[in-house]
Amino acid sequence: MARQPRFSLSRRAWLATLAGATALTKPVFGAIKPDITLRFSHVVAEETPKGLAARRFKELVEQRSGGRIGVQVFPNAQLYGDQDEIQALQLGAVDLVAPSLSKFGRIGLPEFELFDLPFLFDDLSAVRRITLGPLGLRLLSGLPRQGLVGLGFFDNGFKQMSANRPLLEPKDFAGLRMRVQASRVIAAQMRALGARPITLAFSDTRRALETGVVDGTENPISNFWTQAMHEVQSDLSLTDHGYLGYAVVTNQRLWQHLKAGDRELIQQALQQALTFANQIADTQNNQALQALRQAGTTRIHILNTGQRTRLREAVKPVQQQLASRIGASWINALQQALH
Ligand code: LMR
Repeated sequence: MARQPRFSLSRRAWLATLAGATALTKPVFGAIKPDITLRFSHVVAEETPKGLAARRFKELVEQRSGGRIGVQVFPNAQLYGDQDEIQALQLGAVDLVAPSLSKFGRIGLPEFELFDLPFLFDDLSAVRRITLGPLGLRLLSGLPRQGLVGLGFFDNGFKQMSANRPLLEPKDFAGLRMRVQASRVIAAQMRALGARPITLAFSDTRRALETGVVDGTENPISNFWTQAMHEVQSDLSLTDHGYLGYAVVTNQRLWQHLKAGDRELIQQALQQALTFANQIADTQNNQALQALRQAGTTRIHILNTGQRTRLREAVKPVQQQLASRIGASWINALQQALH
């Protein structure tokens, strides 16, 4: 629920809080003043799988509660970015966030970096065997260790590689400074390709590409397009080399404080919003690819079988290198669930 945060916020966060003027803070039910207002903060644009999931969640909660429960969505890292969104949640300054699964390793949950292993999943149905199955529940059960409650997973999609040169063979990555999320597995992936991983917040990535702080990056196309990375990246390779998905998490104190009926209403609305997000994620990424083709700013490369095989071979050592960090039991459980 909206409350005065008990820790110093970044200047940007205070300005955004004071402004409060985002299209997604207005209640669906006009003037009704909600008894409870949930603040949902995330780092991507509204027209992305995560942005649309948050919007759908807001609509469902406010409709089903008759406006008694409000949801304020703060997209584009308006309130909090990579470096402080989880801390803000733990301290109760926001009520819901949906970080990339790659970002849980640095808060003491390295098993989540399972999802970052390159070429792990053949398609989204394989991913859902994990995220919608018992292993996904086991992963979420670790969140209370950090004072959090995991409410569910959902997809963005498969990541592509971009730079200002064609990335067709492993040797093409040599010496490139590649922006990565705060994940040891993704860093190891880039090193295996001879590149230098540079961890930066998502909201700083576009500018870092523009100013040459980094040479390239990886992301699903919906993020690449909505952050206008195509304006500063001449080449994009459709590698589908890794998966990017999310977990919606809330604060344990908030969750326990809610009345059982409200918890049930919120959880049902969220599950429906996440199902919706999984239904539209592929479409969102395909539409972004279409828009990118039409923009004509960036050469789009499709790897042939040999190139894809060599890319896959180059990053193969990552799983062995990071097995002790992730936990061999997690890797074994995942392999069993997939095969
Ligand atoms: C990234 O940091 O590249 C992504 O996790 C951003 C997002 O949340 O999709």
